[in-house]
Amino acid sequence: MKPTTLLFALAAFAAPLSASAAGDPVAGAKAFKVCSACHIATEAKNKVGPTLQGVVGRPVASVADYKYSKAMTDFGQGKTWDEALLSEYLKSPKTVVKGTKMAFAGVKKDDDLANIIAYLKDPAAGGQ
Ligand code: HEC
Repeated sequence: MKPTTLLFALAAFAAPLSASAAGDPVAGAKAFKVCSACHIATEAKNKVGPTLQGVVGRPVASVADYKYSKAMTDFGQGKTWDEALLSEYLKSPKTVVKGTKMAFAGVKKDDDLANIIAYLKDPAAGGQ
């Protein structure tokens, strides 16, 4: 195989792999519909739940004009919503934060979860 052929072959394999590992913000924007009754990620606006604009990397329970439950405020001490914590929480909110007022059972599919997080990281990439 010529080196250039090899490069093309590698690129063809690498692209889908990295897409699935990182999540797809466009699919995430669709999957986010289960959240959107209570949250918006494209505006600094609270609904039933706090705004999720810039939530990835944001300290837990830190939106100043949002009234969190005591459970969430206590849980949040010193914690930041990184991807690992978000995945854990969104799989089963009431297990991770006992007493949270987020009335949501959890995201069941790992793909949906990865896609939602990709969307939250960059809502503009989700076309929203
Ligand atoms: C039925 C309404 C509802 C739905 C649906 C919902 N949430 Fe929430 N969410 C809330 C409420 C209320 C809170 C505040 C929880 C508290 O203070 O205990 C919250 C809190 C959060 C937080 C913590 C934010 C912070 O500032 O610390 C994140 C992250 C979050 N939700 C993400 C999501 C995502 C992603 C989805 C969809 C997969 C979702 N939520 C679905 C109502 C909802």
